[in-house]
Amino acid sequence: MNCLPGICLAVALLLCGATPPVTSSWWYMGAVGSPRVMCDNVPGLVSRQRQLCQRHPEVMRSIGQGVAEWTAECQHQFRQHRWNCNTLDRDHSLFGRVLLRSSRESAFVYAISSAGVVFAITRACSQGELKSCSCDPKKKGSAKDNKGHFDWGGCSDNIDYGVKFARAFVDAKERKGKDARALMNLHNNRAGRKAVKKFLKQECKCHGVSGSCTLRTCWLAMADFRKTGDYLWKKYEGAIQVVMNQDGTGFTVANKRFKRPTKNDLVYFESSPDYCIRDRDIGSVGTAGRVCNQTSRGMDSCEVMCCGRGYDTTRISRMTKWFCGSSSVAFGADSCQRPWQQTREATGLILCRHS
Ligand SMILES: *[C@@H]1O[C@H](CO)[C@@H](O)[C@H](O)[C@H]1NC(C)=O
Repeated sequence: MNCLPGICLAVALLLCGATPPVTSSWWYMGAVGSPRVMCDNVPGLVSRQRQLCQRHPEVMRSIGQGVAEWTAECQHQFRQHRWNCNTLDRDHSLFGRVLLRSSRESAFVYAISSAGVVFAITRACSQGELKSCSCDPKKKGSAKDNKGHFDWGGCSDNIDYGVKFARAFVDAKERKGKDARALMNLHNNRAGRKAVKKFLKQECKCHGVSGSCTLRTCWLAMADFRKTGDYLWKKYEGAIQVVMNQDGTGFTVANKRFKRPTKNDLVYFESSPDYCIRDRDIGSVGTAGRVCNQTSRGMDSCEVMCCGRGYDTTRISRMTKWFCGSSSVAFGADSCQRPWQQTREATGLILCRHS
């Protein structure tokens, strides 16, 4: 925040006194099924977003479907952490109050959600699901790379379209407000879009006599979204704490010993809570009941995950059904009387205590 210490404190106290409401956002689009009703039923869309929504309902369907994908990726990346990117059912803000704080976790979620939009739209373009775009029309004719000449062929992922639409749609909300948090979100949104583009790779196929590769056809293809997730995770771990600069137009590093953030880095203002206990005000659900790993020394270790509260071992037995085979001879008559067999399996789970 760009103000004198005394004023900062006053503002902070004011914020504490009147906890701001959790605002809804386009993230909720994943929960609203039909694109026909989507534009009016997502309460958090700003007017520009609503406009785009009405004009491009089929793009909205891709964005809505994409929400499940990037939240799953977020949950995969955070699976061993106290905050595990859990979403709340029927919550218009999807993650609840947790992301009101300008934390590292907020930085990651904004980045991966905006990356998810780029990915979903670009893929939908290539699959011919959208009227407004198709494969990259610029990738036509012949070209040259370090291996010589080649022809553009097949379908090149039209990532420029995905990036452009994502920027217009996702950033629209942050362009309304010019506060510090909006600038932080814009920065991390852009980092997310760039992350997808980073993994756009040229793929080629050889032609010619017995695969001699005298002729090559190439196209540009996005990598699996996991690559973007892994990359953004590294950026999360190396996220840079910043403060607003004097004129409120950009960031400077909070700690002069650290490097300045580039456009690829994630930035945040506030340190994270420890997420140990359930705390309605900060939106933390706590780690009671979470699974921990007794042999790990990382974030999923029982010490760290349970925040020193201790843990209990629970035996959970599960029935698993497995396919034994249609021919009982092959497996021996004893073990394979029916093609489907059931076995009860007991697994020990270690769960964090409540207190
Ligand atoms: C627990 O942690 C150890 C050491 O990091 C790892 O080898 C093991 O696979 C983990 N177990 C589970 C169930 O995740």
